[in-house]
Amino acid sequence: MIREAIQLSKPVIGDDEKQAVLSVLDSGIVAQGPKVRELENAFAQYCGTEHAVALNSGTAAIHTALHAAEIGPGDSVITAPFTFIATANPILMQGGNIKFADIEPDTFNIDAQLLEGAYDPSVKAILPVDLYGQPCDYDAISNFAEQYELTVIEDACQSVGAEYKGRKTGSLGRIACFSLYATKNIMSAEGGVITTDSEEVAKDARSFRQHGMDMDGKYDYIQLGYNYRTTDILAAVALAQLAKTDRFNEARAANACRLAAGIRRIPGLVVPIVKPDRLSAFHQFTIRITEDFSVSREEFISRMSAKGITTAIYYPRPLHLYPHMARLGYNKGDFPIAEQAAKEVVSLPVHPTLTDSEIEYMIETIKDIAYA
Ligand SMILES: Cc1ncc(COP(=O)(O)O)c(C=O)c1O
Repeated sequence: MIREAIQLSKPVIGDDEKQAVLSVLDSGIVAQGPKVRELENAFAQYCGTEHAVALNSGTAAIHTALHAAEIGPGDSVITAPFTFIATANPILMQGGNIKFADIEPDTFNIDAQLLEGAYDPSVKAILPVDLYGQPCDYDAISNFAEQYELTVIEDACQSVGAEYKGRKTGSLGRIACFSLYATKNIMSAEGGVITTDSEEVAKDARSFRQHGMDMDGKYDYIQLGYNYRTTDILAAVALAQLAKTDRFNEARAANACRLAAGIRRIPGLVVPIVKPDRLSAFHQFTIRITEDFSVSREEFISRMSAKGITTAIYYPRPLHLYPHMARLGYNKGDFPIAEQAAKEVVSLPVHPTLTDSEIEYMIETIKDIAYA
């Protein structure tokens, strides 16, 4: 039997997304308009926050959040070194400084026990990342933040619909940032959203995304801003997707559970865990291929690819080892848990349209590689 390749991610686009786009095109209002506002209202309601502001990427969302938190030259932000580069770049874009704290080996998220070691009086905010869709330990992070009066900004770009102690991501810090990039659990090709309970933050975000415009009605510019607006066309897609978030995430979790059950006993392969007080959005299902596995990680990836299964390494290099981060003064060996993770991780497909037979095929293929 010839199988179609199994993709790592695949946007699920139905008739409702297509119809929604057509009706926006017919309406004549295609840039930022009523659909963007509708998306903001629906997103805030979904996350349980007072406000949401839609932007044109997750990166723009993080930049906007940092601006609203008044991060500027001389200020530092604590974040994890094991994440997508877009978590950290906006801190530098604001002229800020980055203090990294290493991650927990089991969840891959920032280790709240290490925040104290990363702190100095220049630190004004913490930017924890809900990596692969699992929320960080927000109680521990918030306790630390309270002690030093720091702003918590969630990088929830991978964790839409996830929960920490029954509370949805988006509502766990002062500001949260989401991405609607094409490979995310819900998407609009490109896009981003911030959520917050603070009216002040929401107002600043609306100004920042519009070149720093005065949002009190005067056609005036009161601060530096950018063009971070999104469009009604993309908002219409995102609205249709938002309505399916829980269904998509349940399918991801079920796929993850099946896959984990099939491969968890393989020597040298570590399956991901979800802490009992959390619900993961399973944006990625990321295993570790350790030294005790039958072949190297690179060989594993190439054999999976030869069998038509796409995998990826998120992330091959911890952020402190990128050239443009060199001025922060970190060196190889400074964050050993992140560095080890970068050597071992591989993400496997769990997207919602995978079939049972595709999951069985992945399990059998992985076993074949492990026991050959
Ligand atoms: C953890 C994390 N932060 C930030 C981003 C940036 O989002 P975007 O690609 O929409 O700019 C992404 C997604 O790409 C991400 O996964």
